[in-house]
Amino acid sequence: MQLDGNVAVVTGAGSGIGRAIAEAFARQGARVAVCDIDADGAHATVGAIEAAGGEAIAIDMDVTDQAAVDAGVDRAAQHFGRIDTMVSNAGIQIVHPIEEFSYAEFRKLVTIHLDGSFLLTKACVRHMYPQRSGSLIYMGSVHSYEASALKSAYVAAKHGILGLARVMAKEGGKHGVRANTICPGFVKTPLVERQIPEQAASLGIPEDEVVSRVMLGNTVDQEFTTMEDVAAVAVFLAGFPSNALTGQSIVPSHGWHMV
Ligand SMILES: NC(=O)c1ccc[n+]([C@@H]2O[C@H](COP(=O)([O-])OP(=O)(O)OC[C@H]3O[C@@H](n4cnc5c(N)ncnc54)[C@H](O)[C@@H]3O)[C@@H](O)[C@H]2O)c1
Repeated sequence: MQLDGNVAVVTGAGSGIGRAIAEAFARQGARVAVCDIDADGAHATVGAIEAAGGEAIAIDMDVTDQAAVDAGVDRAAQHFGRIDTMVSNAGIQIVHPIEEFSYAEFRKLVTIHLDGSFLLTKACVRHMYPQRSGSLIYMGSVHSYEASALKSAYVAAKHGILGLARVMAKEGGKHGVRANTICPGFVKTPLVERQIPEQAASLGIPEDEVVSRVMLGNTVDQEFTTMEDVAAVAVFLAGFPSNALTGQSIVPSHGWHMV
C-alpha cells in the first residue's frame, strides 16, 4: 500500500473528483478526513470508504469560513494524530459572458477556489511545519494554463491557485513540505454535467458540439479524463518518497495542454 500511515485532508470530498481521491487514498492505506459543505455527501463518501475496509471521518466544512477550516483541520489532526497530505479540491463552476457575470457570482467562485485554498493551506501547515513533512496538493485545471470563453472567474481563480502552490513550494521547502498542482482536463462529474446545457445555451450551439468541440476539441483522442485518472495522480503525489517534486503541476488531460 502506497499510503500506509498517511493522514489526508481532502476538501470537496463529498462528490466527484474529491470523492474519488478520498476513496483511492483509503484503498492505499491512508486515513482520510472527508471535508465538504455538503454533509450528506461527506457521510456517503465515509460510508463507502468504511464499507471497503478503510478509515475516514466526515467533517462539515465551508472552505470560505476560516473558523470552520481551522476547526476541521484541527479535528482531523486530533483524531488521526497528524496531517501528512492536503488536497485542496472544493470548487464550483459558474459560466457567463462577462457582461452577464455579476460581481457577486465572480466573488463567490473566486472565494471558494482561491481563498479556500489559502485558508486550508494555513490550517494544514500549522501541523505540517512542526512535524517537518507534508504534501500540499492543489486542484488546478487545464484552465490554470489555458483560457475559455465564459469562464472569467474560473480561469482567474485556477491561474491563481497555480501561483499559490508555487509560493508554497518556496515557503514550505525549509520546513520539509512540498506543494504541487493537479491540472485536469474535462472530467465527467456533476460540475461538468451541469455545464453542458448551460454552455449550449450561452454559445448557441447543440449540447453534443459543446462536448466534441468546446470540451474535447483540443485533446489528442477526444476522450474525457476520468476521476480515477485524477485520483491516481493524487496518490502518486501524496506517496512520492522525497521532496524532489515540488512547485510542479501534472496535467492529466488527454494531451489538451502539454506543459
Ligand atoms: N470536472 C472537471 O472537469 C474538472 C476539471 C478540472 C478541475 N476540476 C476541479 O476539480 C475540483 C472538484 O470538481 P468536481 O468536478 O469533482 O465537482 P463536484 O461538483 O462533483 O464536487 C465539488 C465538491 O465541492 C464541494 N464544495 C463546493 N463549495 C464548497 C465549499 N464552500 N466548502 C466545501 N466544499 C465545497 C461540493 O459540495 C462538492 O462536493 C474543483 O476544484 C474543480 O474546479 C474539475
